Amino acid sequence: MRTLVVYESMFGNTRHVAEAIARGFAASGEAKAVPASHAREEDLSGYDLVVVGGPTHVHGVSRASTRRDAEKTADKPDSTVTLEPDAVSDGVREWLSSLPPAHGRAAAFDTRADAPAFLTGRASKGIGKKLRHLGFELVAESESFLVDKESRLEDGEEARAEQWGHSLAQQQ
Ligand SMILES: Cc1cc2nc3c(=O)[nH]c(=O)nc-3n(C[C@H](O)[C@H](O)[C@H](O)COP(=O)(O)O)c2cc1C
Repeated sequence: MRTLVVYESMFGNTRHVAEAIARGFAASGEAKAVPASHAREEDLSGYDLVVVGGPTHVHGVSRASTRRDAEKTADKPDSTVTLEPDAVSDGVREWLSSLPPAHGRAAAFDTRADAPAFLTGRASKGIGKKLRHLGFELVAESESFLVDKESRLEDGEEARAEQWGHSLAQQQ
């Protein structure tokens, strides 16, 4: 089984989650995690499953303006976060918009604050909707992985991401 995990990440958390999900798939075949800014080079027809995730920004999927806000946050003198190298280039939204109609299998995830989803929003909801509109069959409920108030992954979330990948692989 070949799995592609496509992610966007401003501060590194969604990248860590994406890499953990890919590790979870590794026992069932080949799996790799690539940033959305490099995903256009991938031929999706070569994968059995595409897993797509990003950070929740302003209750949904990040966009150019929210990425700039994230950059400003990272640039503050008292900042606790560091910007990923390709953070402000195209992300999941732009990559999904670039895709032709598809017919593969997919799943969505996000990172977001640790509070009820009706308050925080979930990027995975928008990502899942876009994947469905493109023609992908969603093979699982979308999943959120939680960060604390300083935008750091909470304890155990990376392990939970690996387990999520592992259980998705088992279901295929
Ligand atoms: C501009 C901006 C807007 C955000 N809006 C939300 C939000 O509406 N809901 C939420 O749960 N988290 C929000 N967050 C927190 C992010 O979800 C969190 O920083 C992200 O999950 C970290 O992932 P990353 O390290 O991969 O960028 C926001 C963060 C930024 C920078």
